[in-house]
Amino acid sequence: MNLPSNVYQARVKAGILKQDNAQQNVVMLLDQLCKSLSTYQPSVHSSGGMFGSFKSLWQKPLPPPKGIYLVGSVGRGKSMLMDLFYEQVPVQHKLRTHFHIFMQDTYKRFHTLKQQSGKGGDPIPDLAKELAQKAWLLCFDEFQINDIADAVLLGRLFEQLFALGVVVVATSNVKIEGLFQNRPGSDAFKPFIKVLSQQMTQIELNAAQDYRLGRPEDEKRWLVPCNQENKERLDHVFLNETHGRPVKEETLMVMGRALHVPCACGVVARFSFQDLCDVALGVGDYLVLAQRFKTIILDDIPQFNPENMNVIERFTMLIDVLYEQNVKLYVSAEADLEEIYRKEDRRAFFERTISRLNEMQGQNWGITMRGR
Ligand SMILES: Nc1ncnc2c1ncn2[C@@H]1O[C@H](COP(=O)(O)OP(=O)(O)OP(=O)(O)O)[C@@H](O)[C@H]1O
Ligand SMILES: [Mg+2]
Repeated sequence: MNLPSNVYQARVKAGILKQDNAQQNVVMLLDQLCKSLSTYQPSVHSSGGMFGSFKSLWQKPLPPPKGIYLVGSVGRGKSMLMDLFYEQVPVQHKLRTHFHIFMQDTYKRFHTLKQQSGKGGDPIPDLAKELAQKAWLLCFDEFQINDIADAVLLGRLFEQLFALGVVVVATSNVKIEGLFQNRPGSDAFKPFIKVLSQQMTQIELNAAQDYRLGRPEDEKRWLVPCNQENKERLDHVFLNETHGRPVKEETLMVMGRALHVPCACGVVARFSFQDLCDVALGVGDYLVLAQRFKTIILDDIPQFNPENMNVIERFTMLIDVLYEQNVKLYVSAEADLEEIYRKEDRRAFFERTISRLNEMQGQNWGITMRGR
């Protein structure tokens, strides 16, 4: 088995990564988990057949190793380390996914199973079993709980997954005890926090720097302000990216609903900020866009009004999805990135958005995939 630490060291030696002691400490723990998992078999995957069933009568399954919850500020290397672990861990039934995407798929499957089980049926046990059979090592990037519906579904689902011996590794900007707190209904979520703390070791990654900062920025992709000159610059970008081919409107389908794209050509699309963030769109819509288009041009981002959290949260979600899907983004905005949301006590989720948008300005963004 090639341990995460070997790969990490090799990448440092090759100059791909900078040596970072805080990351190094996390890598050691990831090594340990790799070793524990190499001899672990969850009950849901233990060998079937008659002998298997007899055996399970008198032999208690081994308790699962604790997963890892990697928390820390933006750009510290959490996702990079989890991916490194994921590549090396000797587990066949494993899944690495962005948490937004996992939630999308889970809701879809939940509703299908609910329809099949009829009125009063509880689809959660079947859903958990199905998931665990597909993958008993789940690696989630950007674990977060956005609303009460997610909180309720996840609480019950994870309880069952853990009971089936599933092991979870996750990255997050929020500590376990801070998930879905100070929100209406958060008390009901407390038992889930306890379960997560029992099943996962929380590790804080205090790496030395935000590795997204300080990259070359030859090509400007965040244009300020929203004036005629910048509109024309974005026209020019569109022309360059599409090589002058004809532009058309498009309609994409998202879970049976039509999503209108006013201006598309090949894998390039152009929207106004209002089109995407000032209407009732959600993660599902953004994901469909991000999977359909490689380059998105967004005109007229205003300076955010803290009173209108819906718009800010939608923009945050949009950037999360575009970032995850490696989409190239050009915008015109009323203010520089750091000034777009000026509230003093700007919430942590917006720091992540700024950090990502910074990385997305890099000249190679959207051309080469990140190391994942
Ligand atoms: N030691 C390092 N040396 C050089 N580059 C690094 C190092 N660690 C991370 N990076 C790079 O920095 C960028 C940010 O890392 P990563 O995406 O893993 O951060 P993160 O902690 O997951 O951030 P976020 O909380 O926003 O998701 C990535 O492109 C990654 O490859
Ligand atoms: Mg990350």
